[in-house]
Amino acid sequence: MSSRTRLAFHVSLSEKASDQIIIQITDPRDVSADNLALATWGSSEVLANMLHRLPIPDLSSTGLQTDVFPVLELGAGTGLVGLSAAAVWKCWTCLTDLPPILPNLEANVALNRDILAQHGGSAACGILDWSNPEKHIFESTGHAAAFKARVILAADTVYSEEHPELLTQAVAARLEKSDKARFVMCYPLRIGYLDHIRDLWERLETAGLVCVDEGRESLDKSWDEDTPYEWCVWRWQDLNVQPEP
Ligand SMILES: C[S@@+](CC[C@H](N)C(=O)[O-])C[C@H]1O[C@@H](n2cnc3c(N)ncnc32)[C@H](O)[C@@H]1O
Repeated sequence: MSSRTRLAFHVSLSEKASDQIIIQITDPRDVSADNLALATWGSSEVLANMLHRLPIPDLSSTGLQTDVFPVLELGAGTGLVGLSAAAVWKCWTCLTDLPPILPNLEANVALNRDILAQHGGSAACGILDWSNPEKHIFESTGHAAAFKARVILAADTVYSEEHPELLTQAVAARLEKSDKARFVMCYPLRIGYLDHIRDLWERLETAGLVCVDEGRESLDKSWDEDTPYEWCVWRWQDLNVQPEP
């Protein structure tokens, strides 16, 4: 089973086993978009629990008073990764997805507001369609936001042949052009998706990004599947390269 309608997820804040936070997720079963029923996918659980092992991102000079988001999640789904990042990195995160997903995402932000605040984090959500990544509408205000992001997160966002191009376009449009900026993603290594993943890597490299760290993880036995998951961290290789239109 590679997805869950489970309603509570334990997320590690450090290597200490007891140092965990519980992220609550509203029941997403009645919501669907992009031909998928909404669920929390295995990549999200892997990435949420990997975040504390990554170097803490340098989020200096980001936030509402600047034109750089600290952390933006693309294709957030139920929001597990972006909510976890807010607690692990003690920062503000913005979770984005397609319009039908937003009400559930907003409910999850509200459900976890107090626990995130206790850990020094906060979250907001908005609409960001990868096919039109210049347009980002904040759910709370309805306003369009022109911000770049210091860190972009994406879990299980490569499952059709259009996704490599769309996702590269979204990352190129939204990742801050800075040596501090990072794009972090995680996906299952299913045979049927490997060509898409290869395509995505090539497109990211062509856009001027370089992979600086990568690894593989498996889910625990409760997920009842043995698909390995790959995570990788990207940064701009050459800050002078202009993204292709
Ligand atoms: C397989 S789900 C993964 C959700 C979540 N990241 C997880 O791992 O549980 C893929 C997500 O990408 C979103 N998505 C697909 N196409 C998109 C697009 N063009 N723009 C924005 N989000 C998109 C879907 O709505 C869905 O929430």
